[in-house]
Amino acid sequence: MAYNLLKGKKGIIFGALDENSIAWKVAERAKKEGAEFTLTNAPIAMRMGAINKLAEATGSTIIPADATSLEDLDNLFTKSMETLGGKLDFILHSIGMSPNVRKGKEYGDLNYEWFLKTIDISGLSFHKVMQVAEKKDAMNEWGSIVALTYIAAQRTFPDYSDMAEAKSVLESIARSYGYRFAKLKKVRVNTISQSPTVTTAGKGISGFNAFLDFAERQSPLGNASAEECADYVITMFSDLTKKVTMQNLFHDGGFSSTGITNELMEKLSE
Ligand SMILES: NC(=O)c1ccc[n+]([C@@H]2O[C@H](COP(=O)([O-])OP(=O)(O)OC[C@H]3O[C@@H](n4cnc5c(N)ncnc54)[C@H](O)[C@@H]3O)[C@@H](O)[C@H]2O)c1
Repeated sequence: MAYNLLKGKKGIIFGALDENSIAWKVAERAKKEGAEFTLTNAPIAMRMGAINKLAEATGSTIIPADATSLEDLDNLFTKSMETLGGKLDFILHSIGMSPNVRKGKEYGDLNYEWFLKTIDISGLSFHKVMQVAEKKDAMNEWGSIVALTYIAAQRTFPDYSDMAEAKSVLESIARSYGYRFAKLKKVRVNTISQSPTVTTAGKGISGFNAFLDFAERQSPLGNASAEECADYVITMFSDLTKKVTMQNLFHDGGFSSTGITNELMEKLSE
């Protein structure tokens, strides 16, 4: 069911890698709600080519950009505004990668070059995106910027490793830039803290299936799917949430507020 919630709105969607990606679901849903947008991902991710299918289905242009490169981001914003014929109303930052996690480095044996890369890709890139947007005056008033995050920013989940630090940085940037963008342009900035979800980034965390099962039992409403996350992101881009800013919004079926559930107690006493 569509409600025309994004009719006439323009934006940029980062991070659609394949059809499991949360950004992919957001793009499909945004299209149904009447939005126009450009799609972007790191040039290296383009090689898989799946994004072309999404671009075709949503009538979008793809503009490659490494989100850690200010030059790439500058080009992305210039070309997006040209292609869409005006300034932007929404941005989705759906980017995460840790070389330490990918290469199986233990938390007590982190490679610090890679650690800095994790922070740059998964945290600082959010600041870079907003700084470039501000400098290019790319946002319309009452625009909305959302990044995706995970509860490991607040609580320890051992296998999440240095991604936890990156997510803390990301969430802090949402507050700091949220203040600035509100004063500058009435633009709101939030992070959505999503349940574990079966995607390329999600599956990179070791023991992911056991983890998914644990979260399912520990969430009174069950884990939130990628499609449900997309629904939430759409409401955050719509005019129905104009005064929500500088928040970390949990979209996790109640996981973050639950001590323990009966389901988990039963499982543990088996
Ligand atoms: N899957 C989960 O369990 C889960 C849970 C909570 C939050 N999240 C977050 O959701 C977001 C999207 O992840 P996903 O689960 O859809 O996985 P995904 O692997 O489909 O998406 C991650 C994206 O980041 C992109 N990326 C990596 N390096 C980049 C760079 N330098 N420049 C630009 N893009 C780059 C990848 O190409 C990919 O498209 C991430 O921020 C992730 O941390 C995921």
